[in-house]
Amino acid sequence: MHALNALIRDIPDFPKPGIVFKDITPLLADAAGMTQCIEALAEPWRGKRVQAVCGIEARGFIFGAALAQALGAGFVPVRKPGKLPADTVGVDYALEYGSDRLEVHRDAVRPGERVLLVDDVLATGGTLEASAELMRSLGAELCGASVVIELAMLQGRERWASDAPLHSLLRYD
Ligand code: PRP
Repeated sequence: MHALNALIRDIPDFPKPGIVFKDITPLLADAAGMTQCIEALAEPWRGKRVQAVCGIEARGFIFGAALAQALGAGFVPVRKPGKLPADTVGVDYALEYGSDRLEVHRDAVRPGERVLLVDDVLATGGTLEASAELMRSLGAELCGASVVIELAMLQGRERWASDAPLHSLLRYD
């Protein structure tokens, strides 16, 4: 994973002072790096009969769509409120200050469908767990989740309530 690590850059004080942002755009711009990244994301799920990959807005769409292709699965966008045109189900979840909401089309997955959640970053874990809750509310069977980057000091993994595996490619302490 050394090569991937080198394609993620730290941007200090973004989006606010004191935060060091993990910028994935150099990775997205590197064809060989992205090939390696998608193959590494796909590897634990091969043979696991994943039917739908759910990518979380916005950067989860990029990795999720490519991963869906690699696994021969469909792609489902999990979106911020008010973006999806048809009938939706949503879940509200707590942030450090305030709350947020994610939505998915009510017919995006069928009951029993085997789904995999994908995002770029696991930080506090609220986004990923809320997405898992959305999938459970639709009766989907959660295979697990994959993220490119885990910010381990934020302990997001502890918020993951499912027994299904949560994989991360790069872990920063
Ligand atoms: C970031 C990131 C994850 C989420 C992780 O998304 O892409 O989706 O935060 O945070 P958490 O583990 O603390 O919930 P952001 O809200 O910045 O949205 P964006 O991808 O649309 O910029």
